[in-house]
Amino acid sequence: MPDIHICEVGPRDGLQNAKHLMPTAAKKAWIRALAHAGLREIEVGSFVPPKLIPAMADTGEIVQEAAKIEGLKVVALAPNLKGFQRAIEAGAHKVTFPVSASREHSLANVRMTPQQMVEEVRKCAQHAHAGVEIEGAVSTAFGCTMQGVVPDDDVVRIAVALAEFCDGVALADTVGYANPAQVRRLFRRVKEKIGEKLEGAHFHNTRGLGLANALAAYEEGVRHFDSSMGGLGGCPFAPGASGNVITEDLVFMFEAMGLSTGIDLERLFAAREILAQGIPQEPLYGHTPLAGLPKSFGAHA
Ligand code: COA
Ligand code: ZN
Repeated sequence: MPDIHICEVGPRDGLQNAKHLMPTAAKKAWIRALAHAGLREIEVGSFVPPKLIPAMADTGEIVQEAAKIEGLKVVALAPNLKGFQRAIEAGAHKVTFPVSASREHSLANVRMTPQQMVEEVRKCAQHAHAGVEIEGAVSTAFGCTMQGVVPDDDVVRIAVALAEFCDGVALADTVGYANPAQVRRLFRRVKEKIGEKLEGAHFHNTRGLGLANALAAYEEGVRHFDSSMGGLGGCPFAPGASGNVITEDLVFMFEAMGLSTGIDLERLFAAREILAQGIPQEPLYGHTPLAGLPKSFGAHA
């Protein structure tokens, strides 16, 4: 088992916010390349109305294809029971639900209040789903571009509610408002309430603090991180949201610290080439792929 578990969310969080569509065949090739680089968990798409997010219209086909990859945990996002049923039918291994702690974002994103969304996830958890993991992701947990401040108490309350029937709970900084002190405080508070159920950290790099926040969460005991290749990403229903913490740099940071991720950086750079070819109009970010690995890589762990 690697020290750090990374879930690549580019095919979902990344492509849902891209200006152009990535062809289905290119998505499949990219996902294979990511798995070949050592990613053991990939969020490959979302089961939302295709009219709402055309880039996710092929998620069923993508899940079916990804499920053929040996040893890969295939994750999909769903906003409601209908999406959950579609995910199960396609063969997803894990389904993540966005439960916004901001009332305004929740209404804009899923047309439900946070409380209604908690009840929607509960309904899904009560629905037959043998072998399928359920994650409750508390989004806008660190602030919201519409509502502004999101009180910690609201986040804690939602996390506690979700922990009752979800296999795991994640905290997500949907709009890149978080800072490391806040990350430490909120992860600590939620962990005090739900313990090991608090699993994942999902950061966006909107203000350049993605890695700093990931390190802060690591220091609070978090070992599961979402990230996106090339720093693609953002919620189309959260004004001002931009890309996720960059997978290439996140892997580099942990590996350079001597923490194993199970991911081969050279192969990761190769997967980035496939991404660049698949959606050539989209700018890709990341420092490590441009600079290359230091000659001393692996020597200072
Ligand atoms: N997948 C496919 N179709 C769906 C669906 C799903 N998960 N959920 C609802 N629909 C369909 C309904 O069947 C209905 O179709 P019809 O018009 O042909 O009868 C239509 O969509 C409207 O359904 P309704 O239940 O009224 O949904 P809504 O319009 O209130 O929207 C959500 C609610 C949750 C479906 C929508 O807001 C959503 O998908 N949000 C997520 C947005 C997102 O992806 N954000 C970024 C990731 S966090
Ligand atoms: Zn996100």
